[in-house]
Amino acid sequence: MTARPLRILCLPGSLRRDSWNRRLLEVAATLAPAGARAEVYDALAAVPLFDEDLEQAQADGPPGVRALRAAIAAADGLVIATPEYNHALPGVLKNALDWLSRGSPEGEVLADRPVAVLGASAGPWGTRLAQASLRQVLHTCGALVMPSPTLFVALAAERFDTRGALADPALRASLERFMHAFAAWIERVAPHCPATAVA
Ligand SMILES: Cc1cc2nc3c(=O)[nH]c(=O)nc-3n(C[C@H](O)[C@H](O)[C@H](O)COP(=O)(O)O)c2cc1C
Repeated sequence: MTARPLRILCLPGSLRRDSWNRRLLEVAATLAPAGARAEVYDALAAVPLFDEDLEQAQADGPPGVRALRAAIAAADGLVIATPEYNHALPGVLKNALDWLSRGSPEGEVLADRPVAVLGASAGPWGTRLAQASLRQVLHTCGALVMPSPTLFVALAAERFDTRGALADPALRASLERFMHAFAAWIERVAPHCPATAVA
């Protein structure tokens, strides 16, 4: 067996063009440790509203769902950055998780999948309640959620410059620690994941 790089998929839970959560993941993806490759998934908008009739209309689900499911199935681990809407995860993210919680040709893609959670909000609490609600949903889906480190990014507008680049070295260091910890978490909880080694 030959080790190959860990694949980490980063999913922002926001559709907003200038989303802090997407920006955070774009930086995080560059800070994955040696031996890991991370990329940001940017097609959440293609996931339709969950509807059991729509689900049954096509065996594998709608194209936007198939694409997200396939990207997760091909990854060794998933990082989700969630905004906070009304003290919970946003509906657009919950909707995607509802699709992903269902059976498919790839199985239930979140079950036994290593997942890490972080989030950024414009306010002072840094998505604490959104992350708690997201963790609850992920546990229900059988995901292997990294317990720590946690990363709650408050006052997000102050962390980036006017061009949208991260301007907070302490946050960059925290993101780097987070990504390294997640790679270690993947190897700890899913060491035999077929995606972590190739024959
Ligand atoms: C409908 C709605 C509800 C919100 N509720 C909260 C909230 O409960 N707590 C909070 O800190 N921010 C709240 N916000 C502000 C978001 O944190 C802010 O819009 C953030 O930038 C969204 O993440 P994004 O930049 O990744 O899109 C809310 C925003 C919207 C649109």
